[in-house]
Amino acid sequence: MTLEARSARACWETDVDSPADGRSIDLGTVDAIPVGEGRAYRVGGKTVAVFRPRDGRLYALDNRCPHRAGSLADGIVGGGAVICPLHGWKFELASGRCLNESARVRSYPVVLMDGRMILLLEGEA
Ligand code: FES
Repeated sequence: MTLEARSARACWETDVDSPADGRSIDLGTVDAIPVGEGRAYRVGGKTVAVFRPRDGRLYALDNRCPHRAGSLADGIVGGGAVICPLHGWKFELASGRCLNESARVRSYPVVLMDGRMILLLEGEA
């Protein structure tokens, strides 16, 4: 099995139900993500990586790296960015913009309510 094939599914991936209201979804408690790491959540037909950097904020990006489908949830988090574990493309957590290549992944708002992470999917097609 290639490294790319192994990384198609994140090491830590949680299935969650589709959003009841079509716009937001409760991903569970923030404690599920260790500080300084990311975790992947399968929501409907997509997988979203949620990151909990040391700055105390939460960020959510599409989990699939646009280069060769690496799992960004398994990347190294720091300095407001995540580094893809496969070939090192670096993505800004706040925007999804790639900092060393001409690429981007979609970012999603995620908020903390009573210790639970709420992913907002407004504007989803
Ligand atoms: S899969 Fe190559 S940098 Fe992400």
